[in-house]
Amino acid sequence: MEILRHVVLLVHLVGFAILFGSWVVEAAARRFQATRLMDLGLLIALLAGLALSAPWGLDHDLNYTKVAIKLVILVIIGALAGISRSRAKKGTPLPVWTFWLMGVLILTNAGLAVIWR
Ligand code: HEM
Repeated sequence: MEILRHVVLLVHLVGFAILFGSWVVEAAARRFQATRLMDLGLLIALLAGLALSAPWGLDHDLNYTKVAIKLVILVIIGALAGISRSRAKKGTPLPVWTFWLMGVLILTNAGLAVIWR
């Protein structure tokens, strides 16, 4: 059970890597737009995160306040990504600060995960 939980955690981290990695690529290319790859990373992080939120293969209690905050933050990131892509298609892109906000929120979730036990 514990090994399976670690495998799901690895999948969760792959989702984070895809999400943050694709965000960094867009920032470095100075396009400042959300992409479909970010949606994929979000979806993987969400599904694996939900699986990890059930108390299996654990020898300690989960911090459900932290998990709930992470879920709310993920929904906000998803909303920003969705609105950003649809507005870009219509030719009225969101202001660039919303792209930076997405990066801050992604790192906030990773920070919450590793710093707040
Ligand atoms: C952008 C979104 C997210 C990022 C960047 C992220 C990042 C991380 C990271 C880096 C870890 C590893 C922590 C460690 O083992 O030290 C982790 C663990 C975990 N994440 Fe996420 N996560 C995200 C979304 C979510 C969501 C939406 C949920 C729940 C619905 C969730 C639930 C969990 C749980 C239960 C763990 C393992 C237990 C713990 O260490 O608290 N995560 N996450």
